[in-house]
Amino acid sequence: MTAQTPAQTPTHQTPAHQTPAQMTARTEPAAGVDSPHAIIDVAVAFWKSKALLSAVELGIFSELAHTPSTCAELCERLGIAGRGAADLLDALVSLGLLLRDDGVYRNAPVADLHLDPRKPATDISGYLSFLNAGFGCWAGMTEALRSGGRIDFSAALSASVSEDHGGAGDPKLVGARAADDTFGEAYAAPDQVSGFLRAMTGYSMGANQAVGEKFDWSSARTVADVGCAEGSLLAQVLSRHPHLEGIGFDLPVVGGGFDAHLKQVGLTDRARFAGGDFFADPLPTADVLVMGHVLHDWDLDTKKMLIAKAYEALPPGGRLLIYESLIDDDRRERTTGLLISLNVSTVSVGGRGYTGAECGEWMRATGFTEVKVSHLDGPEHLVVGVKPDVK
Ligand SMILES: C[S@@+](CC[C@H](N)C(=O)[O-])C[C@H]1O[C@@H](n2cnc3c(N)ncnc32)[C@H](O)[C@@H]1O
Repeated sequence: MTAQTPAQTPTHQTPAHQTPAQMTARTEPAAGVDSPHAIIDVAVAFWKSKALLSAVELGIFSELAHTPSTCAELCERLGIAGRGAADLLDALVSLGLLLRDDGVYRNAPVADLHLDPRKPATDISGYLSFLNAGFGCWAGMTEALRSGGRIDFSAALSASVSEDHGGAGDPKLVGARAADDTFGEAYAAPDQVSGFLRAMTGYSMGANQAVGEKFDWSSARTVADVGCAEGSLLAQVLSRHPHLEGIGFDLPVVGGGFDAHLKQVGLTDRARFAGGDFFADPLPTADVLVMGHVLHDWDLDTKKMLIAKAYEALPPGGRLLIYESLIDDDRRERTTGLLISLNVSTVSVGGRGYTGAECGEWMRATGFTEVKVSHLDGPEHLVVGVKPDVK
């Protein structure tokens, strides 16, 4: 539950600069631990979620990014009938995502930065479109848990890139046989590839920025991102460290999206794509290898195999960076890490989240030394290990 916050008197002005902590539950005190609302607050969390996702789908943030507007003006321009619109907009004000002054709405700073598709280096709208289409996937959760089936997220992907991207329909349950190829299914059509890659750029934005800012890159010259998607990690790191050059390694089908994104952010002179399959091919070599949100997609043997391949590819003294929404070691605190694990375990064949302690153990068993876990951003954590110098 959220921390106790004092009830506030509603005002017509919203502070222009808020920290994320100030933006959540600003106006309502958290329910006491024995109140029914301690339960109801969790049960209705999907209302907040769907209000935000529908607002993105309706184009509210991208419209307000260039034209602050009244509710009536927005409805007129975006083809919204009006019923419920004022409540939606004011709910977004209460969530700290919009500001309202004298009846005119505009994006709050955090939405201006991250929900404006014309700012490709910081925009996360693609992830929200993916989540909006995937909203229905979780409606299949009970049946997936009961039957052990897999929720087919490629149907959600397909819906997220179609005109009618809110309507993924009923979740489809499929088998979870070891031979299934979930990425092959997900990438079944070109627009699904680009939809998934854009989603990853948004999902990983906070972690990628933090890797660029918090990790000591001074002694490295080269970095390779394994399972790089559109190349958002390299974009965030190389833009902050002009002495670095980068390689993005991913399935060949991903190359077009990588090239387009790196061009958009002006970094094609220092980053290149290397197509390959990490089951069949060696990993590229570099002073630093990165795997972000990759290991959680796979079973334990594959996780260990990828860590061992990274060890082989690194030079002595090279470092491996692994980051995820890690689960806390005692598996009782980090709800996001636990729910991402639930999500991957129901959409993939053998995927599962893990703790920092587990990851450290796999890395040390492979030969890595100086293994450390640190916080990146939000639920995201980094595990770093060093391949020892040859004696
Ligand atoms: C969950 S995404 C994470 C993307 C990115 N690292 C991030 O954090 O946003 C997993 C990535 O692994 C890539 N991938 C899946 N199977 C692969 C394989 N066999 N070889 C290389 N890359 C693969 C996918 O294409 C995808 O880009």
